[in-house]
Amino acid sequence: MSLHVLDHSLIKHKLTLIRNKDTKTKDFYQNVSEIASLMAYEITRDFPLKDIEIETPICKTVQKELACEIVIVPILRAGLGMVDGIRDMIPTAKVGFIGLYRDEKTLLPHTYFAKFPPNINNAVVLVIDPMLATGGSAIEAIRILKDKGCSDVRFVGLVGAPEGVKNLLDKYPNLDIYLASLDEKLNEHGYIVPGLGDCGDRLFGTK
Ligand code: PRP
Ligand code: URA
Repeated sequence: MSLHVLDHSLIKHKLTLIRNKDTKTKDFYQNVSEIASLMAYEITRDFPLKDIEIETPICKTVQKELACEIVIVPILRAGLGMVDGIRDMIPTAKVGFIGLYRDEKTLLPHTYFAKFPPNINNAVVLVIDPMLATGGSAIEAIRILKDKGCSDVRFVGLVGAPEGVKNLLDKYPNLDIYLASLDEKLNEHGYIVPGLGDCGDRLFGTK
């Protein structure tokens, strides 16, 4: 249980594309989605399996299928950019939503929406948000899910700052955090350096 920075050449290559300020909305969205797919592939490597009897065109056989329910919970807005990519890999995953925005001055998170599938408590819950900056948004999202009774909650992001990772692990020492990159630091405005700028705006073309 701790920080896992996924070391994969394709992930690094696609991260460079989204960090580039000249990458336009369509390519930005596409690459965020593809990185999310690659991360889902890596993260689920050890997920539990159970036996299932099926019939091939040749004979009956006992094979494996995923033993756990998976719920992905994007933090709106930017987390939405990772949903399609993860669902491409795990089409059976259910999706919940947490709407949070970070006050630009105080950097504190404000919740405006929460909706979850039934029986989320028994699922492996992947909270997804491309950016882990101060960690305030992730901490609040995980608090909401823990208050609902979810026991297996993990965080999946693209780019994290050391400050956010520390704050998140101080609050939830047993949390698994998966990142595509651990960046250098936060700047004085709470943006990740080198980062990729405002992810929500770049995904949805709002600036
Ligand atoms: C961004 C990002 C995270 C949050 C990270 O969202 O998508 O949710 O900031 O910052 P933190 O770790 O300091 O809390 P933002 O508040 O800009 O909302 P948006 O996704 O709707 O643009
Ligand atoms: N949110 C973003 O979208 N980018 C950052 O660098 C920090 C918070």
